[in-house]
Amino acid sequence: MYKTHACGLLRPEHVGQRVSLAGWVNRRRDHGGLTFIDLRDRSGIVQVVANPDTSPEAHQILEDVRNEWVLQVDGTVQRRPKDMENPALPTGEVEIEADGIHVLNQALTPPFAINEETEVDEMVRLKYRYLDLRRQRLQYNLELRHQVIKFIRDYLDERGFWEIETPILFKTTPEGARDYLVPSRVHPGEFYALPQSPQQLKQLLMVAGVERYFQIARCFRDEDQRGNRQPEFTQLDLEMSFINKREDIMDLIEPMYTEMVEKLVPHMRIFQSPWPRLTYVEALERFGTDRPDLRFELELADVREIVRDSDFNVFKQVLSNNGTVRGLNARGCGSYSRKDIDELTAYVKEFGAKGLAYLILDEDGSVRSPIAKFLTEEMLENLKTRLSAKPGDLLLFVADQAEVVNESLSRLRLLIGDRLGLRDPDILAFCWVVDFPYAFWDEEEQRWEPSQHLFTSPLPEDIHLLDTDPAKMRGTQYDVVLNGDEVSGGSIRIHERELQERIFKLIGLDPEVARERFGHMLEAFEYGAPPHGGIAAGLDRLVMIMAGEPNIREVIAFPKNQAARDVMADSPSPAEAEQLEELHLRLIDKK
Ligand code: AMO
Ligand code: AMP
Repeated sequence: MYKTHACGLLRPEHVGQRVSLAGWVNRRRDHGGLTFIDLRDRSGIVQVVANPDTSPEAHQILEDVRNEWVLQVDGTVQRRPKDMENPALPTGEVEIEADGIHVLNQALTPPFAINEETEVDEMVRLKYRYLDLRRQRLQYNLELRHQVIKFIRDYLDERGFWEIETPILFKTTPEGARDYLVPSRVHPGEFYALPQSPQQLKQLLMVAGVERYFQIARCFRDEDQRGNRQPEFTQLDLEMSFINKREDIMDLIEPMYTEMVEKLVPHMRIFQSPWPRLTYVEALERFGTDRPDLRFELELADVREIVRDSDFNVFKQVLSNNGTVRGLNARGCGSYSRKDIDELTAYVKEFGAKGLAYLILDEDGSVRSPIAKFLTEEMLENLKTRLSAKPGDLLLFVADQAEVVNESLSRLRLLIGDRLGLRDPDILAFCWVVDFPYAFWDEEEQRWEPSQHLFTSPLPEDIHLLDTDPAKMRGTQYDVVLNGDEVSGGSIRIHERELQERIFKLIGLDPEVARERFGHMLEAFEYGAPPHGGIAAGLDRLVMIMAGEPNIREVIAFPKNQAARDVMADSPSPAEAEQLEELHLRLIDKK
């Protein structure tokens, strides 16, 4: 071993001890004939100095080294002279008086500073990810991620869960994305699919009598990338047998997250305990989304009835087309300029809205608005009451079909929340969302699309609606939402062949195709499948929020960029002609 101690952990109690340290040159400073360096390893940094009279060789090396060179330093811990102490540094009271220094490796000048948290273009960071990861912030993220996984393993082990690996080369497992396919060399023309989740396999483990399973599982989904999505990501995936209601899973997960937060990020605070439970309908009504950020209010209000008889053509037309009008009170934003409001309008247009109507309530109680002339005095008063408006507020309205109104106003709500500083990253507002509609009608495909996946059971009291009124049937699904992000989802499953086949039929899966794709599931259900249910937590999203990061790339060691490309290794990349031949593949010209 090159080292006896970690740089960042040296304290006055070590004064007088001989130590060997190893790490990187964080920074070099010349001070009136003396050269100092900060030596860094993952624990932190410590100052190193060499006396030119007693250790001339060590002193010479300190003069020659450059940032990011790798050194081994032998020396003695000593107290820094009083006026040289650095209270900002955990090791700031001590330094190493080096008598032997060995250069273990040299380094080119890095493409960006490792020793400070400067803004660097993300493409450059990803290209040199191994250097990016050397920086303090990402080192913290890696460590936190490790601790989260360790916590989960211990927590579930104590409760009788077995960690079991399931295959990566498998068969299609639909979770709403496209599959990544792997061609088989030994079976010409056939493909494995990478799992979008271990969903089928964990259910089969329940049939196998495992009773309690979990896995830190890699999942693969070919879908458009966003800040909180990656083509491969990690779930805490778990499943339990002999449970019949969602509380069985909630009572396991809620304390797990709570204890994890208390232990690993004690500076953060859980907003409400027990976590609020919202139905899907309530979440949409109050926040316009099934992923509400509960850290702040600014709830949406339905104002259809208030403006039904107004003379504003936009409202009239939308309402006669079965659309809706909803509003939001941007508290204290009454001083927004025309330009500010144009910006908000442009923002909601990104989400399909055709415009943004507004009322400004001046401090003197008067109303300013291009649409006020179309509204009666009574309508204005009712709008103010409905939105609990006070002088100095800005009321914003969108009229459209419900989906557009919800999508645009829920986004606008977050934007206003950000602007008003209401989204404190150190507050964790968890909630459960339940009672999702089992399926949505897909107008384009002309079929029912399950709102979770095919294996979710309808609520027992709603199963009778399956053949008569599927739109009204609710699923057993439960989601965990944290600060506006969906961080987990699960359900009680179907464990009987007959019900599973009825669900396949509902979503228009041809029985032949169903047998080909999911025959193994149907068959397994006939051999004593126990009632079961489970959940999967998006580990990357959870760690992202606990680390206070804006996207999941910051908590994944080697992420893909927004175009699903690994820019460090330059992947994907073309295959050799022989490989394609062996795999029985021929490329077609992309044009
Ligand atoms: P679901 O598809 O909801 O459920 O996924 C569970 C959780 O995984 C996270 N997640 C993602 N994270 C990063 N990048 C992605 N592309 C991505 N997609 C999903 C989310 C989500 O809440 N088999 C079911 C679970 C179950 O029923 O037990 C499933 O995979 O945080
Ligand atoms: P216009 O009559 O199109 O000039 O619009 C008058 C005001 O109504 C502007 O502030 C528009 O942004 C707003 N507006 C237009 N369409 C809508 C809509 N569908 N919902 C809400 N406001 C709208």
